[in-house]
Amino acid sequence: MSKKNIIITGGAGFIGSHVVRRFVQNHPDLHIINLDVLTYAGNLENLKDVEKAPNYEFVRIDITDKTAVEALFTSRTIHGVIHLAAESHVDRSITNPIDFVMTNVVGTVVLLNAYKAHADTSAGRFYHVSTDEVYGTLGDDGKFTEETPYDPNSPYSASKASSDHFVRAYHETYKLPMVISNCSNNYGSHQFPEKLIPLMIHNITNNKPLPVYGKGENIRDWLWVEDHARAIETIYFNGKDGETYNIGGNNEWKNIDLVHKLCEIMDRKLGRAEGESAKLITYVTDRKGHDFRYAIDASKLENELGWSPSVAFDQGFDKTIDWYLENTEWLDRVTSGAYADYYQSMYAAR
Ligand code: NAD
Ligand code: TYD
Repeated sequence: MSKKNIIITGGAGFIGSHVVRRFVQNHPDLHIINLDVLTYAGNLENLKDVEKAPNYEFVRIDITDKTAVEALFTSRTIHGVIHLAAESHVDRSITNPIDFVMTNVVGTVVLLNAYKAHADTSAGRFYHVSTDEVYGTLGDDGKFTEETPYDPNSPYSASKASSDHFVRAYHETYKLPMVISNCSNNYGSHQFPEKLIPLMIHNITNNKPLPVYGKGENIRDWLWVEDHARAIETIYFNGKDGETYNIGGNNEWKNIDLVHKLCEIMDRKLGRAEGESAKLITYVTDRKGHDFRYAIDASKLENELGWSPSVAFDQGFDKTIDWYLENTEWLDRVTSGAYADYYQSMYAAR
C-alpha cells in the first residue's frame, strides 16, 4: 500500500522545521511534503539532517499561488495538511500588513480550497497552526482558554484570527475535517533573529545594544519548540475533529527579567565579567499596540490528550543558547544580506 501524503507548509521555518523533522523521523509510514516558498524566514539548512530521508520531499510553492497549489494537490492523493506557513513577525506586520493578509489569510483559503476539492479527506485532516495572540491581551490575572473570545490587536494577530475563522468556517460549511491549535511564544534552535531571544543572543555576542521595548514589563509565556512540535503531532493524530486546543508552557516571563537572565548566562558562557552583557540593555520606543501579557491555559490538551511540556525552562533555555553559540555560522548566514536593512529600518530611529 502506498504511503499517505501529508503536506507540512512552512516546513523550512522555525517551528515548521521541528515539525517536519519529527514527522519524518517518527512516521516512516507517511510521506512528508514540505511546502515552502523560502521567504527570508525559510531556510532549508534547517532540515539538512532529514533532506535525504526516503519519506521526505521539498516543494517550493507560494501558498497564495492557486495554480501551483492546485497542481500539487492533483499530482497525487493528498491525505493531510499541517499548515504552518505564515508571515510571523508582529513588528513586520505593523510596517507591512498587506503581506500578512496575502499569506496568512489568502494563502490559507487557497490551501483550504485545494484540500476540499482534491484531497482524500477521509484519511487525514487540515491542521491549522495558530497563535494565542488571536485572543488579544491579558491584564495581570487570568489565562487564555479555548473559550476566550477573539480580540486580536496587531495586524499579525488579526490575520491569524481571520485564518482561524476561515478554517472553522470550512468545517461548518463543507464539513472539512480540521483541528486548530493556538500556541504561546516558542523558543529554541533555528529561530530567525528578528524574534526576542535569538535577536538578543546575536546582539550580546556582537556587543550590540539590546533593544528592550518600552519598560520591558510585557509578559510572554515561553514554550520549548520541541514541545510545541510534539503537541502538534499529538493533536494531528488524536485531536477531536473540529476542535481547538491551546498549547502553552506555563512559563511566564517579563521581557526584562528574561533578558537579564539571558545576559547572566551569556556572561558565564562567554567568559565575561558578571554584569558585562547587561550593560548593553537599552530601553527603546515601545512597539505600537504592544500586547501586555499572554498566558495560556493548556488544561484541555493536558487532560484530554495527555500532553504536557517535557522540559523545564532552565534546561530548554540553556540548550537553546548553546545551539546559537555552536551555530554562529548559521546566525551569520541568516543575518547577512537583507537582515542589515531590516535591522536598520526597525531599530535605527527607535
Ligand atoms: P517563521 O517565520 O519562522 O517561518 C514561516 C515559514 O513559512 C518560512 O519557512 C517561510 O518561508 C514560509 N512562508 C511564508 N510565506 C509563505 C508563502 N506565501 N508560501 C509558502 N511558504 C511561506 O514562522 P514560525 O515562527 O516557525 O511560525 C510557524 C507558524 O506557527 C505560523 O503560522 C505562526 O503563526 C505560528 N506560531 C508561531 C509562534 C512562535 O512563537 N513563533 C507561536 C505560535 C504560533
Ligand atoms: P517577539 O519575539 O517579537 O514575539 P511576539 O511579539 O510575537 O510576542 O517579542 C517577544 C516580546 O519581546 C514582545 O513583548 C516584544 C519584545 N521585544 C523587545 O522588547 N525587543 C525586541 O527587539 C523584540 C524583537 C521584541
